[in-house]
Amino acid sequence: MILIASAGLNWEIGFNNDLLFYAPDDLKFFKSQTLDNVVIMGRRTFESLPGQKPLKNRDNIILSSDKNLQIDGATVYHSVEELLDAVKDIKDKKIFVMGGASIYETLLPYCDTALITQFYAEKEADRFLPNLSKSPEWTLQSRGEVQNYEGLRFSFDVYKRI
Ligand SMILES: NC(=O)c1ccc[n+]([C@@H]2O[C@H](COP(=O)([O-])OP(=O)(O)OC[C@H]3O[C@@H](n4cnc5c(N)ncnc54)[C@H](OP(=O)(O)O)[C@@H]3O)[C@@H](O)[C@H]2O)c1
Repeated sequence: MILIASAGLNWEIGFNNDLLFYAPDDLKFFKSQTLDNVVIMGRRTFESLPGQKPLKNRDNIILSSDKNLQIDGATVYHSVEELLDAVKDIKDKKIFVMGGASIYETLLPYCDTALITQFYAEKEADRFLPNLSKSPEWTLQSRGEVQNYEGLRFSFDVYKRI
């Protein structure tokens, strides 16, 4: 599985169930990577999506303990075991773990690549990613050219499991 996230300098990723950083090219990057593939998200991240609608042209998977939760255009699983069993035979699509914090933490052991949009800024946050740059299990494979959107600097970084 591939983890995909945007993070600040402290690996902060969210506040008040919303994202911290906005750059059109980051959204384009997210779309270009995930389109026609599978995206896995937690119930809270799903609820933070515009209109609380599944992402178009992607197989949306949502994790929730709520057995009654039904979402048009998405599949809901209720445990990691159920999720892993459902995705184990998918070979023709990439599987992206798209957050939030609880899902990143739970599914990180199953990811071998992490696409991190690294924002060179700090923001107040209540959700964080594990700092892969300090993890002995991960290495920075490539750092994209630093981009600038209205003074906000960021790069597209790729981490690989060692
Ligand atoms: N920067 C980024 O790239 C990025 C990406 C995505 C999200 N975010 C941010 O992350 C924050 C949300 O993260 P979060 O940790 O609060 O919420 P989350 O991970 O999106 O969703 C948490 C919910 O997922 C369900 N869940 C989690 N683990 C489960 C398991 N093992 N089995 C069954 N259900 C499970 C539970 O739903 P139930 O309560 O229904 O049981 C839980 O309350 C927001 O601020 C969002 O904007 C940032």
